[in-house]
Amino acid sequence: MNSIAAYRPIGVGTQPNHLHPPYVSSIKRSPTKPLIQIPYTLSEVTGPSFESRLVSPAASDLTHQQHGDPLGERIIVSGRVLDEDDRLLSNTLIEIWQANAAGRYAHEWDQHDAPLDPNFTGCGRAITDSEGRYRFVTIRPGEYPWRNHYNAWRPAHIHFSLFGPAFATRLVTQMYFPGDPLLPVDPVFQCTADEKARNRLISVFDLETTMPMHALGYRFDIVLRGRDATPMEDK
Ligand SMILES: [Fe+2]
Repeated sequence: MNSIAAYRPIGVGTQPNHLHPPYVSSIKRSPTKPLIQIPYTLSEVTGPSFESRLVSPAASDLTHQQHGDPLGERIIVSGRVLDEDDRLLSNTLIEIWQANAAGRYAHEWDQHDAPLDPNFTGCGRAITDSEGRYRFVTIRPGEYPWRNHYNAWRPAHIHFSLFGPAFATRLVTQMYFPGDPLLPVDPVFQCTADEKARNRLISVFDLETTMPMHALGYRFDIVLRGRDATPMEDK
């Protein structure tokens, strides 16, 4: 008789705590009452579908969106998108946004005293191929200060938004870089209590993605839902 594997619940602390006082804005916006579980209906387990023809291949190269080359270190970020059962997810829309090499966003709300780069908008878009893969060419983002606490600086990061096959597989998160000295003191990164889960947000330097004489490569695989899910950004 086959033995039946025990049910493994999703680990405590593998997603961000809504209330994480060192991340000051979480104090006001986190729920103060127990969450209400809403049963899934067709609206949650279905969602918009995206075809590769909807996004130009040029949209995934953030270094060729304007007239000239942006300043900074050119990098390649690539990876695969998987579901909770390790299946590769094709036709997943991925949108990214990030600061430029000097640590400033091309957005009117960002008034950080660092230069804008007329050749860098910091926004990109891609759709995963038949094997769930995506690839962006961009510039390594700079760290930037914020007002969370005295001398607070965000580690270098790229914001990711994903539309999986259903609304329940929506993910908004941030990707970090290996070895960043700001990670241990960043309250946004530290919102996820479980260290193993938290480290899923750190990309891996990858020599296979790296292109000779051109750009360093980083691999960032993303899992939508399940025990090994990439943590959601709590924002
Ligand atoms: Fe940011």
